[in-house]
Amino acid sequence: MTVIFRPLEDRDIDAVIDLWTACGLVRPWNDPYKDILFARGEACSDILVGEIEGCIAASVMVGHDGHRGVVYYVSVAPEQQGKGLGRDVMAAAEGWLKARGVWKLNLLVRAENDKVRGFYESLGYEVEPRLCMARKLVDPAGEGDA
Ligand SMILES: CC(C)(COP(=O)(O)OP(=O)(O)OC[C@H]1O[C@@H](n2cnc3c(N)ncnc32)[C@H](O)[C@@H]1OP(=O)(O)O)[C@@H](O)C(=O)NCCC(=O)NCCS
Repeated sequence: MTVIFRPLEDRDIDAVIDLWTACGLVRPWNDPYKDILFARGEACSDILVGEIEGCIAASVMVGHDGHRGVVYYVSVAPEQQGKGLGRDVMAAAEGWLKARGVWKLNLLVRAENDKVRGFYESLGYEVEPRLCMARKLVDPAGEGDA
C-alpha cells in the first residue's frame, strides 16, 4: 500500500469534505468548503491529501502564524485507520512546516475527542499547560464584527 502526499487540488475538494465528515471533524459552525478555500495553496497554509490508488485516504490542514505551526482536520479514512497512515499524515505536515523553517507544532484536541490523545502521544506530542482562549472577530452568520 503506497500513499502519496500532495497538496489538495480542485478535484479533491468533495472527497476531502466527505473524509472529514466520515471522521467526525465537521461542525455546523465551520463550513468545510470555506475553510478549504481559505487555507489551500497559501504561503502560510495548505491542505495535504494522502492518496492511495487514486482515492483520498488521509488529509491534514497545515499552517503557521509566523511563529508556531498548527494542524487541523487530521484525518484518516475509517477503513484505513490503524495502519500507520495517521503517523504518515502527521509526518507530511511536519515536513511541510520544517521546509518553511517552523520548529514547533502546537495542536488542539477537542475535549470530547480525548481518545486521540494516545495517538499524538505515540508521535511524541506532550500536553502542555496552556489555557486556550478565543474570540470571534467576525459574525459567522453575516457581515460585520462579532
Ligand atoms: C487520529 C487518526 C488520524 C489516527 O490515524 P491512524 O491511521 O489510525 O493512526 P496510526 O495507525 O498511524 O497510528 C499511529 C500510532 O498511534 C497509535 N494510536 C492510534 N490511535 C490511537 C488511540 N486512539 N489511542 C492510542 N494510540 C493510538 C497507534 O497505535 C500507532 O502507534 P505505534 O506506531 O506506536 O504502533 C485517525 O484515527 C482519525 O482520523 N480519527 C478521526 C479524526 C480525528 O479524531 N482526528 C484528530 C483530530 S484532533
